[in-house]
Amino acid sequence: MIRSVVRGIGSALPRRIMKNAEFETLVDTSDEWIVQRTGIRQRHVASEDETTASLGEAAARRALESAGLTPDDVDLIILATATPNNTFPATAVEIQERLGMRHGYAFDMQAVCSGFVYAMTTADLYIRGGQAKRILVIGAETFSRILDWNDRTTCVLFGDGAGAVVLEAAEGEGTLDDRGILASSLRSDGTQRDKLYVDGGPSTTGTVGHLRMQGREVFKHAVGMITDVIEDVFSKAGITADDIDWFVPHQANKRIIDASAKKLGIADEKVIITVDLHGNTSAASVPLALSAGVERGQIKKGDLVLLEAMGGGFTWGAVLVRW
Ligand code: ACO
Repeated sequence: MIRSVVRGIGSALPRRIMKNAEFETLVDTSDEWIVQRTGIRQRHVASEDETTASLGEAAARRALESAGLTPDDVDLIILATATPNNTFPATAVEIQERLGMRHGYAFDMQAVCSGFVYAMTTADLYIRGGQAKRILVIGAETFSRILDWNDRTTCVLFGDGAGAVVLEAAEGEGTLDDRGILASSLRSDGTQRDKLYVDGGPSTTGTVGHLRMQGREVFKHAVGMITDVIEDVFSKAGITADDIDWFVPHQANKRIIDASAKKLGIADEKVIITVDLHGNTSAASVPLALSAGVERGQIKKGDLVLLEAMGGGFTWGAVLVRW
């Protein structure tokens, strides 16, 4: 049976690092409050010349390099983003152009913070359906451009960045030992869309708008949603939390990550944490954390890795990968 195997991974972060203390001069907040409530210590913020497309391109180039491949080897680019360079065309085709690709196809996916998990699941189906042999799956965001920098309840939480993987079709035995994507589960619930949204758009206000969030409400739902899709993935794959080598959750808030891991029975030492360094980078958060896990020498070939994300919509999902 055909499996979608991760052949390469890469990431890119804006040059500028913004530490919590900088916010003390912008809004009524403190380093102590931000660290205690979120675990965030710093985030990267894009300068004028850095965009979702440029960060996505840089992450994609690094992923291709680590795979020993070139853009000529890729059939499809799927970019998960909620902060595209333009309303249209898709930023994925801009990345296609930047990479010098004159073949294949490219499109964006929009599931906010769950975007990368949605894109991995979609890419897996394209590979298993024979629509592509190699896919660049990218999560790239510049949330700093849609933040209300006067709103202390949101501006301290987010950061910019990008991560990418190259997925490749490979023959598997159809067992849990196969490398590649083994199971996934996606959910959404549009009745909750006012809990986390952007108050602008082409068809409504004609403006880009700013991010608005009822943080306490999101927090209240987060752990239940996360554990729901993960338990679904466990049951599809026939495994338990003990079988997992690494848990790579969406990096929104350390308290949500800790509570989810505890509820699922996943040991602390199996959890990859980057929220302290990157803040919440939406669709880039999971591939950035994956990339950090590989660079730190934690995630190794053959490990069983559980990815999870939840975000605006609400959307949420989980993917199980044999690395
Ligand atoms: N500095 C200081 N005080 C603050 C700040 C700040 N930056 N922000 C809020 N406060 C105040 C509030 O005004 C409130 O004051 P009050 O009691 O006088 O009203 C107090 O701190 C407590 O506020 P809460 O919102 O109850 O704080 P909470 O402990 O819930 O933490 C937080 C807030 C960090 C936003 C948390 O609710 C959270 O992480 N929510 C989930 C966010 C999330 O996971 N998003 C994921 C999806 S992101 C996506 O999809 C794009």
